[in-house]
Amino acid sequence: RLYGAERRNSSGLDLSQRSVRDDMAAAIKSFRDSPAIAAGPIVSGKAVTGGGDMVRVPFDTETVLGSCREAQEDDIDKALDTAVKFQPAWDALGGAERAKHLRAMGDILEENAERLIALMAREAGKTLADGIAEVREAVDFCRYYAMQAEAEFTTAQKLPGPTGETNHISLHGRGVFCCISPWNFPLAIFTGQIAAALAAGNSVVAKPAEQTPLIAFEAVKLFQKAGLPVEALHLLPGGGESVGAKLISDLRVSGVCFTGGTTTARIINKTLADRDGPIIPLIAETGGLNGMFVDTTALREQVIDDVIQSAFGSAGQRCSALRIVFLPDDTADELIKGLIGAMNELIVDDPGLPRTDLGPVIDAESRASLQAYVQTMKEEATVLHQIPAGKIGETGYGFGPALIELKSIDQISEEKFGPILHVLRYDPDDIAEVGAALKGKGYGLTLGVHSRLESFQREVREACPVGNTYVNRTMTGAVVGVQPFGGEGLSGTGPKAGGPHYLHRFATERTLTVNI
Ligand code: NAD
Ligand code: ALA
Repeated sequence: RLYGAERRNSSGLDLSQRSVRDDMAAAIKSFRDSPAIAAGPIVSGKAVTGGGDMVRVPFDTETVLGSCREAQEDDIDKALDTAVKFQPAWDALGGAERAKHLRAMGDILEENAERLIALMAREAGKTLADGIAEVREAVDFCRYYAMQAEAEFTTAQKLPGPTGETNHISLHGRGVFCCISPWNFPLAIFTGQIAAALAAGNSVVAKPAEQTPLIAFEAVKLFQKAGLPVEALHLLPGGGESVGAKLISDLRVSGVCFTGGTTTARIINKTLADRDGPIIPLIAETGGLNGMFVDTTALREQVIDDVIQSAFGSAGQRCSALRIVFLPDDTADELIKGLIGAMNELIVDDPGLPRTDLGPVIDAESRASLQAYVQTMKEEATVLHQIPAGKIGETGYGFGPALIELKSIDQISEEKFGPILHVLRYDPDDIAEVGAALKGKGYGLTLGVHSRLESFQREVREACPVGNTYVNRTMTGAVVGVQPFGGEGLSGTGPKAGGPHYLHRFATERTLTVNI
């Protein structure tokens, strides 16, 4: 039996339909015409707004989309106190009842899809296609974890034992979970972390990324509209080193779910290790140095399509994105020519336009760091091609995708988070050695293989084991319940989001033995 086969993922919106494009254009216009959004902490259902940092549109930095007030000491204190008091009742409600709230959230996200997609285009620079996929993923997380809460968190499981004794094991929330999310999936990861923690019986304090507080604010309001008890979820926006650091060191927090950079995960891990009081779990989903190995049997047009999409889709701002493609010596020249041709067809523009392939990168710091890297590589390697960033390079943080040929794998050791793809020529007969060199970098998130030889596919997988391997296709866009997602090594602790084991890490198990 296929696990979860009876559940259906959401179908999303079809941008090829004129009516959908019209609805999207109207949703985007409504943001242009409306006053700026005022966001801030939401504690026990009460939003505290006004003042705070401006949130600007990353492809048009003159435009202010809203503002967000950072959570203060008092907000954090009240949120944690309420969450601690409320959690036992939420846990006692049982998985089936909690599932109803999550399903209601899934439905309400779908009903508000156009507004959320438009807001992501403006706040996070997401293309419409990416926004559609992101709403679908958020909906699917809610429904998938609801299914699991119902199946595994509703009744205790009976275990064998001697006559006269009963034994049961049951799953429970741990207490208050602190969910810390990144800006590159400001809705799907933000909602997915919260949905998992709630499904398992925890109450939640959520700290979204500084760059995308407005989407988080809207999402929490939707949780409330969907009927979630206000004591169960509190939004505490603000900086990582201010609000984030305070939350993880507070002993009222019983678990941390973090998605973001590997360096930040290390800092959090260290803080948790140094805390007094109970030892609590950290679920960390971090970055990748993701490779794709191509051999001479691969279908060239498909390789080019899949490489372009995997490396430059979402402006390369996906942890799963392809960072280094290994091209066989014999066909490398031809493939590079094809890649350059395909790059020239990419449209870098306002992400709210249906024709746009890439929007901006997230902020000035990110763009400056990518630009500096390309400059360095002009000296140290070969920058084969870079397309212009067009109008949004002037009005905002547009950055043209770049293709860099390395001389050696030693020239790369860290994730560059943006639309930069490295190529390295290799001999597929040396796959064990080259694969081991990539594995030696310590990451383990995604891996691509393009080959029609099953033996080559297996050799690549064995040389370079990772969390998610994709053969003869793109290597981004994992689907909930279909490709459970997450890495190993420097890429994260697991378990996989959208997979059958994820909720267990948010839970504690209790065994009850009764001598009758
Ligand atoms: P980041 O690590 O800078 O920030 C992530 C979150 O951590 C933010 O909310 C930030 O405010 C918070 N934070 C920062 N310092 C903190 C501290 N000292 N204490 C507590 N919280 C702190 O990452 P980012 O730039 O927002 O996101 C991009 C990174 O996320 C990339 O490395 C990408 O690969 C990774 N990512 C991984 C996955 C995955 O599933 N593996 C998914 C998306 C993004
Ligand atoms: N889950 C996202 C992907 O697969 C990051 O691309």
